Amino acid sequence: MEQRIALVTGANRGIGYATVKELLKKGYKVILTARNEAAGKKAQSELQKYGDVYFHTLDVTNAKSTNELKDFVEQEFGRLDMLINNAGINYDTWHTAENADLEEVQATLNTNLIGAWRMAQAFIPMMKQQKYGRIVNVSSGAGAFAEMGGNTPGYSVSKAALNALTIKLASDVKSNNILVNSVCPGWVRTDMGGIAAPRSPKKGAETIIWAAELPNNGHSGKFLRDMKEIAW
Ligand SMILES: NC(=O)c1ccc[n+]([C@@H]2O[C@H](COP(=O)([O-])OP(=O)(O)OC[C@H]3O[C@@H](n4cnc5c(N)ncnc54)[C@H](OP(=O)(O)O)[C@@H]3O)[C@@H](O)[C@H]2O)c1
Repeated sequence: MEQRIALVTGANRGIGYATVKELLKKGYKVILTARNEAAGKKAQSELQKYGDVYFHTLDVTNAKSTNELKDFVEQEFGRLDMLINNAGINYDTWHTAENADLEEVQATLNTNLIGAWRMAQAFIPMMKQQKYGRIVNVSSGAGAFAEMGGNTPGYSVSKAALNALTIKLASDVKSNNILVNSVCPGWVRTDMGGIAAPRSPKKGAETIIWAAELPNNGHSGKFLRDMKEIAW
């Protein structure tokens, strides 16, 4: 079988970077994307020793940027097998719902929810054509109603909405062998997670990759952590 092709958003650092590295080690072709060209190219050059890594710029909040990336993938590869919607921002510990700056909340939704939605809309047609696709929305326990308290309102609402999107998309594409899941990576040592976090980026990438490799008829429309289903 042809080598599968994966694409990771926000992959110049953190969990996205680790996900690219582990996918390369498994032998996939990987398209590393980043909104900052210099940071993306630096990551690409560090990771090329692990396998076939391509780079393209992508700002998930920008429709033109998403379309240019889609055209690049279509022309260069003619297919995409795995889409990892990892890019995310704004763990807003400084907000309560009562006092949150709504422009900031809107920007958070624009990246964490609409960015992933836009990417899914761009790449699902290619996946449908080949009757194969795995979409992983990198979510968070902060977006689980079952775990939700009052903190980080903008971030939590954006991830709860991303989880709803996972269910909607999974339903839309279920007859096309496209599986769509949300994954919580756990609390991970990155710029977002901070140095006190117990998990390495490699550990954070583990269930993301597991969800990207699910067999036909595997989980879809689920919320996953540590390779198990968790409560929404
Ligand atoms: N770390 C944790 O403990 C934790 C826990 C649960 C869930 N998560 C989720 O895991 C994912 C990765 O988080 P992380 O900890 O690796 O965070 P991070 O280190 O802050 O990295 C975030 C990445 O997203 C990129 N990004 C932000 N806005 C973007 C945009 N508009 N277009 C494209 N890329 C954009 C950043 O690019 P720049 O370098 O250009 O800013 C960066 O590459 C996020 O969705 C996060 O919510 C993390």
